[in-house]
Amino acid sequence: MCVKLWAQSKAKKSQVRIVLTNHKGGVGKSTLAASIAVTSATLGYKTLAVDLDIQGHSTALCGVPPVDLEYTSLHVLLGDCSLDDAIVESPHSENLFVLGNALTAERLARLLETEQSKRDLRLKMALDSTDFDVVVIDCQPELNTRAVNGVVASTYVVCPVMLEPMALVGLSSVRTFVRNLEKQIDMVVLVFVDERLRLSRLIRQELQLLEHEKLCSVTIPRSVRVPELSWKGIPPALVPEKHPVCEAYYEASKVILDDAFKKGC
Ligand SMILES: Nc1ncnc2c1ncn2[C@@H]1O[C@H](COP(=O)(O)OP(=O)(O)O)[C@@H](O)[C@H]1O
Ligand SMILES: [Mg+2]
Repeated sequence: MCVKLWAQSKAKKSQVRIVLTNHKGGVGKSTLAASIAVTSATLGYKTLAVDLDIQGHSTALCGVPPVDLEYTSLHVLLGDCSLDDAIVESPHSENLFVLGNALTAERLARLLETEQSKRDLRLKMALDSTDFDVVVIDCQPELNTRAVNGVVASTYVVCPVMLEPMALVGLSSVRTFVRNLEKQIDMVVLVFVDERLRLSRLIRQELQLLEHEKLCSVTIPRSVRVPELSWKGIPPALVPEKHPVCEAYYEASKVILDDAFKKGC
């Protein structure tokens, strides 16, 4: 499936842009973003991972230490440098490139400046002139200017959801945010799933009844293996053979990529 879709995308010169968004932190956005990016690159797609979060977690998971960055996605959004100036290579794959992010006092000041003005199309305009096959955009856990940039630039919206009592309310606010930008949530991914918990099962059943979005057929279990790998700058999908949770991230990434290509065709 992927090989065929890859050929189609080359022929059409279309660019699949997957954005990960949720106003909640700690729901696996960055881990899933880096997993999709590395899976895409491993499958042969020329891939750009864009990190809009100043925490720089997906930057680090793409094998790029945030402190090493000269330019970040913020510089690009501010128009302080070109996309080419800011993109760096990832050591994980020759097909993977990174527009990273990092937190410094100077950049935080610039960030606050960004919040005050309307610059919603900056990322989209910067990406429009590139020849990447796949772009994966990781948003920070707020529905603000940078999240708007990410969603507006995207062709496919993914929302990771943790199975907890407020999950449905949270999903509803992300849905409203995305719809206001004339997009839709294309895929909901259930993360940190523990099937032994009755509450998890109940919330999952509720989510399955929703008709608004597709529920990813692969769910992500909770495992301490993920933060252990994260510490070494390794996204779980890079080593699917290491642990069932790594395989789950890899399989979910493939499902998302396939569906994003189908939507783009
Ligand atoms: N399946 C998992 N099981 C346990 N911990 C995980 C899992 N996936 C991610 N994590 C950890 O949870 C934390 C938050 O993940 P992260 O991807 O940064 O979330 P977000 O980007 O939504 O804030 C990180 O420490 C990460 O290593
Ligand atoms: Mg994050």
